Amino acid sequence: MRGLAVYPGSFDPITNGHLDLIRRGTKLCDRLIVAVLRNTEKSYLFSVEERLTLLRESVADIPGVEVDAFDGLLVEFARRRGADRILRGIRALSDFEYEFQMALMNRRLAPDVETLFLMPREEFTFLSSRLVREVARLGGPVDGLVPPPVALRIKEKLRP
Ligand code: PNS
Repeated sequence: MRGLAVYPGSFDPITNGHLDLIRRGTKLCDRLIVAVLRNTEKSYLFSVEERLTLLRESVADIPGVEVDAFDGLLVEFARRRGADRILRGIRALSDFEYEFQMALMNRRLAPDVETLFLMPREEFTFLSSRLVREVARLGGPVDGLVPPPVALRIKEKLRP
C-alpha cells in the first residue's frame, strides 16, 4: 500500500506515542504529512509555529515525513495535498467513539479518502499530550514520554 497519507492532530506537544505512530505510518505509504490543526478557538500550550518546529525537530531523522499546518476541513486539506488516506492512532477503547464519529463524518465528506487506524506500542497506550502538559506543569519529569527537544522546551516554557 503506497501513496500519500495525512496524520492530523493538535500535537500540543508531540509525544513519543505520536512519534511511534509516525514511524509505523511511514511503512504504509511513500510519504506522510503530519498536519497540525490551526484552531483559533482553543488555547494551546505551544503556538502552531512552536508545534511545527518541535515536530520538524522530532521527525528530522525519519525519511518520507513532512510537517505542515492546516485550517478548515481536514478532508479538504488532504485533497489539496493529493492524499487519499488519513492516519489516526487508537490507544484504548475510550478513543474509539470519537475516532469512529470523525472517520465516518470524513468519509461522508470525502468518500475517496480512507481513514486508517494504527495502535501505538503498548507502553504508550496511557500517554497523551494532555497528561504530559499536566505532569510538566506540576514539576514532574517528562523525559522518555516526549522527544528530547520537547522535554527541553516544555521545561523552559513552564519554568516559573
Ligand atoms: O489531536 P486531536 O486534537 O485529537 O486532533 C483532532 C483533529 C485535528 C484531527 C480534528 O479536530 C480535525 O480533523 N479537525 C479539522 C476540522 C474537520 O475536518 N472537522 C470535520 C471532521 S470531524
